Amino acid sequence: MPEADLQVKNFVSGRVENFTESVIREMTRLALLHGAVNLSQGFPDFPAPELIKRAAQDAVAKDVNQYAITWGAKNLRDAIARQMQQWQGITVDPEREVTVCCGSTEVMISTLLAVCNPGDEVVIFEPFYENYGPDSRLSGAKPRFVKLRPPAAPGGEWTFDEKELRAAFDCHTKAVILNTPNNPTGKVFTRQELELIRDLCVEFNVLAITDEIYEHILYDGARHISIASLDGMRERTVTINGLSKTYSVTGWRVGWAVAVPEITNAIRKVHDFLTVGAPAPLQDAGAAALALPSSYYLQLAEGYRLRRDRLMSVLTDAGLRCFQPRGAYYIMTDISGFGFADDVVFTQYLVKEIGVAAVPGSSFYHDPRSGAQQVRFTFCKRDETLDEAARRLRKLQG
Ligand SMILES: Cc1ncc(COP(=O)(O)O)c(C=O)c1O
Repeated sequence: MPEADLQVKNFVSGRVENFTESVIREMTRLALLHGAVNLSQGFPDFPAPELIKRAAQDAVAKDVNQYAITWGAKNLRDAIARQMQQWQGITVDPEREVTVCCGSTEVMISTLLAVCNPGDEVVIFEPFYENYGPDSRLSGAKPRFVKLRPPAAPGGEWTFDEKELRAAFDCHTKAVILNTPNNPTGKVFTRQELELIRDLCVEFNVLAITDEIYEHILYDGARHISIASLDGMRERTVTINGLSKTYSVTGWRVGWAVAVPEITNAIRKVHDFLTVGAPAPLQDAGAAALALPSSYYLQLAEGYRLRRDRLMSVLTDAGLRCFQPRGAYYIMTDISGFGFADDVVFTQYLVKEIGVAAVPGSSFYHDPRSGAQQVRFTFCKRDETLDEAARRLRKLQG
């Protein structure tokens, strides 16, 4: 390597050397480059609800344009506390137990930076939403992965092995990261599974950090349970949620953490020095969003159920084996029937030759070989978008 390059390399921290840029977001860039239908990144291509867009416009017009309180505007924190009570029966003090951040993405990294010391371990179920790996490493913690295994038969559940989970917990474990409803598998953790995780958290004195941003996107009678609502978990859980998915506003960047005051104080400190605060007018609109009636959430879930069923049949007709999701808005598929070397070769072929972008399964595993025959598609798209994807995917059968 030339001497000049060596010197430049010295400017880059060792912290960023153990991970790559997001593969999901890279697939969106490739979709744009090749004019492909983008079924990779999880953002809706349909409009957000009128009422909340108007609330955002009004907030700007009313000059809610300066820094909000660092840990979140009062009206939004009050609304978050009301929602936690209404949906999960959890009583929250909005003054001392809520922190609003720039998306749940910032909540997760702020939380890990606030709770982890070098040498701590964080248990992560895999396949996992790809941010969790780099987030743990940036906070100095070592991730320990526990496999979610795909169902053997269509319509079955992704499951984990109880012994494997127990073996991942020891005296170095600081936290377990949960994501339910789950991206990318669509798994919704059952009460029994959550109780098992709760028992380990209590036994090993471990914190649960739970990403619940797909809370309202559920199918086939699945019920979302917040682990914080289980006996013994309220004081050892950070519950993460946000506006992005429930209100179709992924670009607004508003998310939040709910935790007992001692943990909240630590998260607030990190958040304050990372970003100062989330966008003030969009927090105001967030308070209006959280006041939408229950019928909104039912319609949201039903709209996604129809899209799920539509994409399930498109992908199945194209020859992919689909794992039917019970929540969130992704379909994980098995591509082994096609005989491609791996998921990356397959998704490159798909984006360049077929004109559809999807996410290689390997990006959801710490060992890429585990996801080498899996590919994730999202269905948070208009019917026309899904129909165009269907038309293009027909070429795959040939
Ligand atoms: C599980 C999960 N958590 C967090 C995020 C990002 O959420 P936000 O937009 O609130 O940062 C995503 C986005 O796809 C996700 O799938």
